[in-house]
Amino acid sequence: MNELSKKEIFEDKIKRVIITKEEIDEAIKKVGKEIDKLYDGRPILLVSVLKGAFVFMADLCRAISVPCEIGFMCAKSYYEGTDSSGVVKITMDLDKDISEFHVVIVEDIIDTGRTLSDIVKLLKARNPLSLKVVTLLDKPSRRIVEFEADWSLFTVPDFFVIGYGLDCAEYYRNLPYIAEFGEK
Ligand code: IMP
Ligand code: MG
Repeated sequence: MNELSKKEIFEDKIKRVIITKEEIDEAIKKVGKEIDKLYDGRPILLVSVLKGAFVFMADLCRAISVPCEIGFMCAKSYYEGTDSSGVVKITMDLDKDISEFHVVIVEDIIDTGRTLSDIVKLLKARNPLSLKVVTLLDKPSRRIVEFEADWSLFTVPDFFVIGYGLDCAEYYRNLPYIAEFGEK
Protein backbone atom coordinates (compact mmCIF):
# COMPACT_ATOMS: atom_id res chain seq x y z
CA MET A 1 0.00 0.00 0.00
CA ASN A 2 1.45 3.40 -0.89
CA GLU A 3 1.82 6.22 1.59
CA LEU A 4 -1.09 8.26 0.22
CA SER A 5 -3.70 5.51 0.44
CA LYS A 6 -2.51 4.56 3.93
CA LYS A 7 -2.91 8.19 4.98
CA GLU A 8 -6.44 8.21 3.56
CA ILE A 9 -7.28 5.13 5.62
CA PHE A 10 -5.94 6.79 8.75
CA GLU A 11 -7.80 10.03 8.46
CA ASP A 12 -10.83 10.40 10.63
CA LYS A 13 -12.30 6.91 10.38
CA ILE A 14 -12.92 6.59 14.10
CA LYS A 15 -16.69 6.35 13.80
CA ARG A 16 -17.53 5.98 17.51
CA VAL A 17 -16.03 4.61 20.68
CA ILE A 18 -17.73 1.35 21.62
CA ILE A 19 -15.63 0.28 24.63
CA THR A 20 -13.88 2.88 26.78
CA LYS A 21 -10.45 2.56 28.39
CA GLU A 22 -12.17 2.50 31.82
CA GLU A 23 -14.44 -0.39 30.79
CA ILE A 24 -11.44 -2.33 29.44
CA ASP A 25 -9.42 -1.72 32.64
CA GLU A 26 -12.29 -2.90 34.82
CA ALA A 27 -12.88 -6.07 32.77
CA ILE A 28 -9.15 -6.90 32.82
CA LYS A 29 -8.99 -6.52 36.60
CA LYS A 30 -11.93 -8.91 36.92
CA VAL A 31 -10.50 -11.57 34.58
CA GLY A 32 -7.08 -11.23 36.24
CA LYS A 33 -8.66 -12.17 39.55
CA GLU A 34 -10.45 -15.14 37.97
CA ILE A 35 -7.16 -16.38 36.46
CA ASP A 36 -5.40 -16.00 39.84
CA LYS A 37 -8.19 -17.96 41.50
CA LEU A 38 -8.13 -20.78 38.93
CA TYR A 39 -4.35 -21.34 38.95
CA ASP A 40 -4.09 -20.77 42.71
CA GLY A 41 -0.37 -19.96 42.88
CA ARG A 42 0.70 -22.33 40.09
CA PRO A 43 2.94 -20.74 37.44
CA ILE A 44 1.43 -20.08 34.01
CA LEU A 45 2.67 -19.20 30.54
CA LEU A 46 0.73 -16.47 28.72
CA VAL A 47 1.02 -16.86 24.95
CA SER A 48 -0.05 -14.05 22.69
CA VAL A 49 -0.44 -14.24 18.94
CA LEU A 50 1.04 -11.13 17.38
CA LYS A 51 0.35 -8.48 16.59
CA GLY A 52 -3.20 -7.64 17.69
CA ALA A 53 -3.03 -8.92 21.27
CA PHE A 54 0.13 -7.10 22.36
CA VAL A 55 -1.68 -4.29 24.22
CA PHE A 56 -4.12 -6.67 25.93
CA MET A 57 -1.21 -8.94 26.89
CA ALA A 58 0.68 -6.03 28.47
CA ASP A 59 -2.28 -4.98 30.63
CA LEU A 60 -3.51 -8.51 31.43
CA CYS A 61 -0.13 -9.77 32.67
CA ARG A 62 -0.02 -6.85 35.12
CA ALA A 63 -3.48 -7.79 36.46
CA ILE A 64 -2.30 -11.32 37.30
CA SER A 65 -0.52 -12.25 40.54
CA VAL A 66 0.35 -15.92 39.96
CA PRO A 67 3.93 -16.42 38.71
CA CYS A 68 3.69 -15.86 34.98
CA GLU A 69 5.99 -16.13 31.98
CA ILE A 70 5.09 -14.58 28.65
CA GLY A 71 5.64 -15.82 25.12
CA PHE A 72 4.80 -14.62 21.63
CA MET A 73 3.99 -16.36 18.37
CA CYS A 74 3.31 -15.08 14.90
CA ALA A 75 0.95 -17.08 12.72
CA LYS A 76 -0.61 -16.97 9.27
CA SER A 77 -3.53 -19.15 8.27
CA TYR A 78 -3.96 -20.50 4.76
CA TYR A 79 -7.24 -21.76 3.42
CA GLU A 80 -8.23 -23.09 0.03
CA GLY A 81 -11.64 -22.23 -1.36
CA THR A 82 -14.35 -22.88 1.18
CA ASP A 83 -12.33 -25.41 3.17
CA SER A 84 -12.21 -24.18 6.73
CA SER A 85 -9.95 -26.93 8.04
CA GLY A 86 -6.86 -25.08 6.91
CA VAL A 87 -3.41 -25.11 8.39
CA VAL A 88 -1.74 -22.42 10.37
CA LYS A 89 1.77 -21.45 9.36
CA ILE A 90 3.92 -20.29 12.23
CA THR A 91 6.14 -17.44 11.12
CA MET A 92 7.58 -17.00 14.62
CA ASP A 93 7.34 -19.77 17.19
CA LEU A 94 7.58 -19.93 20.98
CA ASP A 95 11.12 -20.31 22.22
CA LYS A 96 10.33 -22.96 24.82
CA ASP A 97 8.94 -26.43 25.31
CA ILE A 98 5.40 -25.96 26.71
CA SER A 99 5.00 -29.48 28.14
CA GLU A 100 5.82 -28.22 31.64
CA PHE A 101 3.40 -25.28 31.50
CA HIS A 102 -0.19 -24.34 32.17
CA VAL A 103 -0.69 -22.27 29.00
CA VAL A 104 -3.16 -19.41 28.54
CA ILE A 105 -3.50 -18.08 24.98
CA VAL A 106 -4.17 -14.34 24.95
CA GLU A 107 -6.07 -13.16 21.85
CA ASP A 108 -7.42 -9.79 20.71
CA ILE A 109 -10.56 -10.92 18.88
CA ILE A 110 -12.25 -14.12 17.73
CA ASP A 111 -13.91 -13.58 14.39
CA THR A 112 -14.36 -16.64 12.13
CA GLY A 113 -12.60 -18.75 14.77
CA ARG A 114 -10.10 -20.14 12.27
CA THR A 115 -6.89 -18.71 13.71
CA LEU A 116 -7.53 -19.79 17.28
CA SER A 117 -8.87 -23.23 16.49
CA ASP A 118 -5.69 -23.91 14.48
CA ILE A 119 -3.41 -22.53 17.19
CA VAL A 120 -5.18 -24.49 19.91
CA LYS A 121 -4.79 -27.70 17.85
CA LEU A 122 -1.12 -26.96 17.33
CA LEU A 123 -0.35 -26.16 20.97
CA LYS A 124 -2.42 -29.10 22.29
CA ALA A 125 -0.26 -31.41 20.19
CA ARG A 126 2.72 -30.17 22.24
CA ASN A 127 1.11 -31.55 25.42
CA PRO A 128 0.97 -28.59 27.80
CA LEU A 129 -0.18 -29.32 31.38
CA SER A 130 -3.37 -27.45 30.49
CA LEU A 131 -4.52 -25.00 27.82
CA LYS A 132 -7.03 -22.16 28.10
CA VAL A 133 -7.95 -19.15 25.97
CA VAL A 134 -8.72 -15.59 27.01
CA THR A 135 -9.97 -13.15 24.37
CA LEU A 136 -10.59 -9.44 24.74
CA LEU A 137 -13.33 -9.39 22.09
CA ASP A 138 -15.64 -11.91 20.51
CA LYS A 139 -17.72 -11.58 17.34
CA PRO A 140 -19.83 -14.75 17.61
CA SER A 141 -22.09 -13.79 14.69
CA ARG A 142 -19.12 -14.22 12.29
CA ARG A 143 -18.10 -17.70 13.36
CA ILE A 144 -17.25 -20.24 10.63
CA VAL A 145 -15.34 -22.70 12.81
CA GLU A 146 -16.95 -23.49 16.15
CA PHE A 147 -14.84 -22.00 18.91
CA GLU A 148 -15.49 -20.78 22.42
CA ALA A 149 -12.92 -19.03 24.62
CA ASP A 150 -12.65 -19.83 28.34
CA TRP A 151 -12.79 -16.11 29.09
CA SER A 152 -14.26 -13.48 26.77
CA LEU A 153 -14.29 -9.88 28.03
CA PHE A 154 -16.64 -8.22 25.52
CA THR A 155 -18.98 -9.36 22.76
CA VAL A 156 -19.08 -7.04 19.74
CA PRO A 157 -21.53 -6.88 16.81
CA ASP A 158 -20.50 -7.65 13.25
CA PHE A 159 -18.56 -4.53 12.37
CA PHE A 160 -14.87 -3.77 12.01
CA VAL A 161 -13.28 -2.58 15.22
CA ILE A 162 -9.98 -0.78 15.83
CA GLY A 163 -7.86 0.32 18.75
CA TYR A 164 -6.26 -1.19 21.85
CA GLY A 165 -3.99 -3.32 19.63
CA LEU A 166 -6.44 -3.93 16.79
CA ASP A 167 -5.57 -2.36 13.46
CA CYS A 168 -6.82 -1.31 10.09
CA ALA A 169 -3.94 -1.43 7.60
CA GLU A 170 -1.58 -1.41 10.62
CA TYR A 171 -2.91 1.91 11.94
CA TYR A 172 -4.96 2.67 15.07
CA ARG A 173 -3.34 0.00 17.29
CA ASN A 174 -2.30 2.79 19.69
CA LEU A 175 -5.83 4.03 20.46
CA PRO A 176 -6.50 3.46 24.18
CA TYR A 177 -10.12 2.40 23.50
CA ILE A 178 -12.05 0.16 21.06
CA ALA A 179 -13.87 2.00 18.28
CA GLU A 180 -15.95 1.17 15.25
CA PHE A 181 -14.03 1.85 12.04
CA GLY A 182 -15.80 3.77 9.29
CA GLU A 183 -17.19 7.05 8.03
CA LYS A 184 -18.81 9.20 10.72
P1 IMP B 1 -10.34 -15.27 12.82
O1 IMP B 1 -9.30 -16.29 12.45
O2 IMP B 1 -11.29 -14.99 11.69
O3 IMP B 1 -11.06 -15.59 14.11
O4 IMP B 1 -9.63 -13.89 12.92
C1 IMP B 1 -8.90 -13.51 13.92
C2 IMP B 1 -8.01 -12.33 13.55
O5 IMP B 1 -8.54 -11.46 12.54
C3 IMP B 1 -7.87 -11.52 14.79
O6 IMP B 1 -6.85 -12.00 15.62
C4 IMP B 1 -7.62 -10.14 14.23
O7 IMP B 1 -6.24 -9.96 14.04
C5 IMP B 1 -8.35 -10.10 12.91
N1 IMP B 1 -9.66 -9.41 13.03
C6 IMP B 1 -10.88 -9.97 13.00
N2 IMP B 1 -11.86 -9.04 13.14
C7 IMP B 1 -11.23 -7.85 13.29
C8 IMP B 1 -11.71 -6.50 13.52
O8 IMP B 1 -12.91 -6.18 13.62
N3 IMP B 1 -10.73 -5.56 13.63
C9 IMP B 1 -9.39 -5.83 13.56
N4 IMP B 1 -8.92 -7.08 13.36
C10 IMP B 1 -9.83 -8.08 13.23
MG1 MG C 1 -4.89 -11.28 16.01
